[in-house]
Amino acid sequence: MADQSFTDAIALLKADHRTVEDLFEQFQAAKAGNRKKTITRQICVELKIHTLLEEEIFYPAFRGKIEDDTLDEAYVEHDGAKVLINDIEASAPETDFFDAKVKVLSEEIKHHVHEEEMPAKGMFSQCRQTDVDLVSLRDQMLARKQQLLAQDKADGLPPAEPKAVNLAPAN
Ligand SMILES: [Fe+2]
Ligand SMILES: [Fe+2]
Repeated sequence: MADQSFTDAIALLKADHRTVEDLFEQFQAAKAGNRKKTITRQICVELKIHTLLEEEIFYPAFRGKIEDDTLDEAYVEHDGAKVLINDIEASAPETDFFDAKVKVLSEEIKHHVHEEEMPAKGMFSQCRQTDVDLVSLRDQMLARKQQLLAQDKADGLPPAEPKAVNLAPAN
């Protein structure tokens, strides 16, 4: 199902970035625990879906067409963020370190978004110089996003899974 409100795959991903930045700002202003819980749940769902769309569809489309280091570092940065995403989702706002975890996650995401969006050497500008069809990628990502949103509504999404980093077992 094509959604013409995004011109292409990169516009879709950048819109996700703005959504999450806005949610992090809302968190900064939030005082009540239940409000913080609502906002962090939204942040975690947004980030889990966004990282899946990139890892399953967007990044693989550019393997061999842009710098390998750029793609490899993106997977590792995602995995770093997933540690905090899964922890924050399983934590209550009243617990120790909760605000710090959200703050550090926002800083990690800010760095990662910069790597994707920065002019010239950034991932997205490298992607724009390839022959990959960004409109078809948009449609694939929108279809997958609808599936994941439906899954979240029905059963909740499972914890984010690392793709590149070997994390110590949880217990
Ligand atoms: Fe992204
Ligand atoms: Fe990313």
